[in-house]
Amino acid sequence: MTIAGTGSYVPERVLTNADLEKLVDTTDDWIFSRTGIRERRIAAPEEATSHLATHAARRAMENAGVTAEQLDLIIVATISPDTFFPSTACHVQRNLGALNAVAFDISAACAGFLYALQIARHFINSGNRKTVLIIGADKLSGITNWQDRNTCVLFGDGAGAAILQARDPTDPTPRGVLSTVMASDGRLTDILSVPGGGSAMPITPENADQRLNTIHMMGREVFKAAVKHTCEACETAIARAGLKPEDISLMIPHQANVRIVDAICERLKLPPEKAFLNLHKYGNTSGAAIAIALDEAARSGRMKKGDNILLVAFGAGFAWAASIIRW
Ligand code: COA
Repeated sequence: MTIAGTGSYVPERVLTNADLEKLVDTTDDWIFSRTGIRERRIAAPEEATSHLATHAARRAMENAGVTAEQLDLIIVATISPDTFFPSTACHVQRNLGALNAVAFDISAACAGFLYALQIARHFINSGNRKTVLIIGADKLSGITNWQDRNTCVLFGDGAGAAILQARDPTDPTPRGVLSTVMASDGRLTDILSVPGGGSAMPITPENADQRLNTIHMMGREVFKAAVKHTCEACETAIARAGLKPEDISLMIPHQANVRIVDAICERLKLPPEKAFLNLHKYGNTSGAAIAIALDEAARSGRMKKGDNILLVAFGAGFAWAASIIRW
């Protein structure tokens, strides 16, 4: 299975750390030194997750030279769907006119794009599907408590997409996904969640007043779980691909916190310049983060044919994943 094309989209509106200083008791210095984030993008009120996803999808299709009719599977990884149902993927299918595709969403928070990559890989490798569109898209601004400085400084909106197709059997270099690790630990559901709004706590005026329909996070617990699990997942993914850390040309990590990325680099003994970072511009865009970074790395020439690329993500669940792809 190969990645035939990538695309991404971020909304126009920029919200800087200086803007946040006017909303909550924080400073640019605190945010940047703890996270590496300078600014993030915020979608317009009428711009739903499917709009972000559709823009990114069109760019990926153009990049891969694929038409809407060719798509036979669309997977959208999101935790901020347009509606509980129908799926955001069905909205995207309609927008694209991709009527030969089956479309569904998956929920794995910030690990969603890598989960989607793995699901698509199985569909393609089994011969079941030929041309798959995977998208990571989130509009977290809609589920952010803009009065909570612990969380509102971290997140942003965006979407990234990739077109996946079967590997050309005549290509002498085995390209595509070389190995994958996927894991989750449901004992950690409470450390990062939106507690209200679902069947466990239907939203009422009272719990909406308490902002229980927004992101709640135990920052330090998330940080510790992220470092532990991502480091182990990277080591396993590298070993499963038959590689060593020094064989990795570029790491594209989840764009949550530069200190977590530094910890992974240190553990793997990867020079920090091998980590692709764009979180200073976009913050943490959840399911979109790796997908946007992959597209930017591809378009900026950071990846050459044959390079071994390490992708690693973690998020609510707790859910995490790592993949080695040969570009
Ligand atoms: N501005 C200023 N001060 C802030 C602040 C902000 N935006 N957010 C929190 N603080 C304060 C806290 O209230 C606390 O004050 P106190 O000591 O008076 O109680 C102090 O800063 C330290 O908070 P703490 O949570 O211990 O900071 P930290 O070093 O753990 O950094 C995070 C906080 C959120 C940056 C860090 O825990 C983190 O990155 N966690 C992972 C988050 C993540 O990646 N989430 C997404 C997962 S997909």
